[in-house]
Amino acid sequence: MMIKFTLNGQLVEVSSDPSRRLLDVLRQDFSLIGVKEGCGEGECGACSILFNHHVVNSCLLPLGNVMNQDIITIEGFKTTARYQAIEQAYIDAGAVQCGFCTPGMVMATESLLHLNPTPTDAEIRIALSGNLCRCTGYNMIVEAVKLASERGKGLW
Ligand code: FES
Ligand code: FES
Repeated sequence: MMIKFTLNGQLVEVSSDPSRRLLDVLRQDFSLIGVKEGCGEGECGACSILFNHHVVNSCLLPLGNVMNQDIITIEGFKTTARYQAIEQAYIDAGAVQCGFCTPGMVMATESLLHLNPTPTDAEIRIALSGNLCRCTGYNMIVEAVKLASERGKGLW
């Protein structure tokens, strides 16, 4: 089946089984390896992407469900000023250690700030609750999101 969708701002077509996981399509067919596989069952958030601006787990998303939809991965988001603000905030807050969770955390951060540019600590923790990090203890990530929100005022 031919599936058309927008991927990082470009219209793409994939002729494939619509039941394939979007995670596999992104990594195998488009070499978008910033999308990570952790648990493979919707628990860790390492595979997070933006689906019409909402963060979703690409390991749970069948390719057929993205027909005519807008998908952004960390590779596409990297070209934006919002990414720059988030990246610098993560660096400055010490929120990146091994980095495995980071692409997913960044996508969850973007999704949150898009909907709520000035979130409270509690709102940040709820928004990131689908993304697991084995290294940081989360406090530095919450600080990074607050920093991105302050510094990126007007970007969201
Ligand atoms: S790999 Fe998708 S949620 Fe863990
Ligand atoms: S920085 Fe290592 S899992 Fe988050």
